[in-house]
Amino acid sequence: METNTPKRRDNKKSLRVKVISLGNAEVGKSCIIKRYCEKRFVPKYLATIGIDYGVTKVQVRDREIKVNIFDMAGHPFFYEVRNEFYKDSQGVLLVYDVGLRESFDALDSWLGEMKQEMGSQANMDSIVFIVCANKVDLTKRRVVDEGEGRLWAESRGFHYFETSAQSGEGINEMFQSFFSSITDMCENGGKRPVTEVSAGFTKEQADTIRRIRNSKDSWDMLGVKPGATREEVNKAYRKLAVLLHPDKCVAPGSEDAFKAVVNARTSLLKNIK
Ligand code: GTP
Ligand code: MG
Repeated sequence: METNTPKRRDNKKSLRVKVISLGNAEVGKSCIIKRYCEKRFVPKYLATIGIDYGVTKVQVRDREIKVNIFDMAGHPFFYEVRNEFYKDSQGVLLVYDVGLRESFDALDSWLGEMKQEMGSQANMDSIVFIVCANKVDLTKRRVVDEGEGRLWAESRGFHYFETSAQSGEGINEMFQSFFSSITDMCENGGKRPVTEVSAGFTKEQADTIRRIRNSKDSWDMLGVKPGATREEVNKAYRKLAVLLHPDKCVAPGSEDAFKAVVNARTSLLKNIK
């Protein structure tokens, strides 16, 4: 049976772990790793061909951690190469570019690809996930805000960091948190401590807020077909109101989503006889 339990060397205090980077092409995966390991930034885009592999040693408390980093190519062309490398990872860096919405929307399919390649033995609870909202230095072209990214990450029990490989913002903090969580997990018998990222809201709430934000009109927002009846609108409204009511839901953006749903219902009911 496949497990994610890391290899322990003879020295009791040293650990060997495997981490991988995932995300669309050109979002900055290689640059984030380079910024941390080599303290430099390369502005020219050099696409990763298949996989890049590197090793780094870090100290977490009284342990030396040897980290094997597998930096994946994001281009779909390299799927066949990537799929060999998902297994036995203790940590995943999920990267998107805050200036490209499609790279954020693609995070779900990256998780999907990983689950599929790990097969039925996949145990996602034994992996530490960190979401990097990268290129935050390019403030003018930003289209995915912090609330949206954080919501996606934290509703899944993942960590969220805003990073810039260009300026170095957030990079060391992100890696420190990454390695220390992986160490905690290994010391906790290979289970990600559940209290560590306690979002206080459900994935259903987070996904609903995201759906509401991206909805194209009031019908879409309430999740009913155009031309739905009064009863259908009210039924859909009540379901959303229970899920998102600010007294019950602490997810970021829930208040705005709730207001939007109230307004959508009011405007639809005005036009339904
Ligand atoms: P693949 O290997 O093709 O999957 O791409 P990647 O995700 O590894 O992207 P890479 O790190 O090669 O960076 C892509 C481009 O974005 C390069 O031109 C980088 O210089 C640039 N880049 C990466 N991170 C940042 C950042 O934080 N800010 C800015 N402004 N540019 C960045
Ligand atoms: Mg790369």
